[in-house]
Amino acid sequence: MVKKTLVAILLRALRHGLKNNHDPLDALLGHALGAYFGVISQARLRDELARYYSELSIPDLLECIDYPAAKARVVTDGYKTDLVDHKSAGKPIWMPQPVWDKKLALLRHARVRLDLLTLSEGASIPPHLHRGVVSGFMLLEGRAAIRHYDISRYNRDSVLARMTVDEVLEPGQYTVNSDAKDNVHWLLGVADRSILYRFNITGLPSELPEYGDLAGRLYIDTSPISAPSEQPVKLRFATEEEARAITFERRS
Ligand SMILES: [Fe+2]
Repeated sequence: MVKKTLVAILLRALRHGLKNNHDPLDALLGHALGAYFGVISQARLRDELARYYSELSIPDLLECIDYPAAKARVVTDGYKTDLVDHKSAGKPIWMPQPVWDKKLALLRHARVRLDLLTLSEGASIPPHLHRGVVSGFMLLEGRAAIRHYDISRYNRDSVLARMTVDEVLEPGQYTVNSDAKDNVHWLLGVADRSILYRFNITGLPSELPEYGDLAGRLYIDTSPISAPSEQPVKLRFATEEEARAITFERRS
């Protein structure tokens, strides 16, 4: 309890320090804490994330995250490496460590994640949605196809949705999503190896139904939709196995 209170005090102090900082990542993390404390909406954080990606200097980012080492880790892991876990190496936040590590270790308590993800050619992250999540993917290396579907209605066993994004990302390109916009996402590796930089915050206040024990991904059968459209279509929920079995038919 005492530890929880201490962390909350530290997070509030950190937000105060970050939110007006000129460093783009610091400012984004300040906004993430604003969403965590319910001071700003998911929509505002999603807009700030899009702004962060659009203004990001990739060379600065690669230096900041020690990209060669991070890339080596994600290639070894085969899926993702958490920049927070590694940089802080599990040290308690009061132990001596670089400021950047300390900041990110603290942000982990607010369920903020910064990852590198890798996809080999043909590997996919099957179509799914989240509840209470704002996230974004920026491609750093390779090429990756990505689709998003915007949901206009959440039912007990299905959603009403339309495809809004159908892109092949080149390095420097990105997408963002939240509960209320482009929530369903689906990725496919196109190059031999693609590497994505992901921002993610979970557990935010949400207007979505609870869907039982949904803690992570809620998989969706996207097969009735093959192209972007204005017309929403009913998509049923699926098991992970069913979602993985859907073929990502690239149109170009
Ligand atoms: Fe996701």
